Amino acid sequence: MTTSTIIQLEKLEKIYGKGEAQVRALAGIDLQIGENEFVAIMGPSGSGKSTLMNIIGCLDRPTNGSYHLAGEDVSGLTKTQLAIIRNRRLGFIFQSYNLLAGSTALENVMLPLLYRRNGATQGHRLSAAEQKAKALAALEAVRLSDRTHHLPAELSGGQMQRVAIARALVNDPVVILADEPTGNLDSHSSEEVMGLLVELHANGRTIVMVTHSNEIAAYARRVVRFRDGLIESDTFQPVAQVLTTEGEPANATPGTFPKEGEHADL
Ligand SMILES: Nc1ncnc2c1ncn2[C@@H]1O[C@H](COP(=O)(O)OP(=O)(O)OP(=O)(O)O)[C@@H](O)[C@H]1O
Ligand SMILES: [Mg+2]
Repeated sequence: MTTSTIIQLEKLEKIYGKGEAQVRALAGIDLQIGENEFVAIMGPSGSGKSTLMNIIGCLDRPTNGSYHLAGEDVSGLTKTQLAIIRNRRLGFIFQSYNLLAGSTALENVMLPLLYRRNGATQGHRLSAAEQKAKALAALEAVRLSDRTHHLPAELSGGQMQRVAIARALVNDPVVILADEPTGNLDSHSSEEVMGLLVELHANGRTIVMVTHSNEIAAYARRVVRFRDGLIESDTFQPVAQVLTTEGEPANATPGTFPKEGEHADL
């Protein structure tokens, strides 16, 4: 397994506001995340977790310091350039799913491919048939082939989050960013969603996930704790013997996700 660095943050600072009202949300972070790591970001409310995720996710830019993503310095890029990086290199999973209510599961998963088609991003343009085939493959990977034409309102919370995971995967991202992915889910759906993330990790994906739950953090292999905009601790942990509802270790079954680039020709 290669251990090349995917995310490299050096002396990263994010300062909001000016003068008296200034908040140093990130106060000088040095952090390296390697290929195929599964990292949980923890820490109290206001400690800078979302600020960090927004910067890693190219939704915001640091005030000072540098951010290299897969070797590329992205800290000084323009908003348009950041949008391209987001679409091509990053997959997002949010606590509230962020699905389009008026669009079917299939249409939601196709969305990142549409942006790509519209020329907003690099990469070759895909035909409508290619887009559909890719989206269907991603829905199959999250075991939702029987729900492709359902609207979000016709799906359970766990199913909506699985659609969001399929959407995060469809562009073959380098990194999957998950902000409280199980925050709105019951324990059964949480296990299902975490089982999928474990599978993605087993298939070589890099995952960075914010969580407030020790139980959820136990699925990760590394836990980085924040306090007052600084890293308080950074620890590696063994694979948790997390049980699925069937009583089998969730990470004992080989994954069915296509490996990176495997369905690039669809
Ligand atoms: N847009 C903003 N403008 C000004 N201050 C902000 C802004 N966003 C965040 N902050 C401040 O930056 C600090 C870090 O916020 P952040 O949202 O990163 O915390 P968090 O660790 O994600 O907390 P939580 O667990 O509650 O989600 C907080 O003190 C917050 O008030
Ligand atoms: Mg937050």
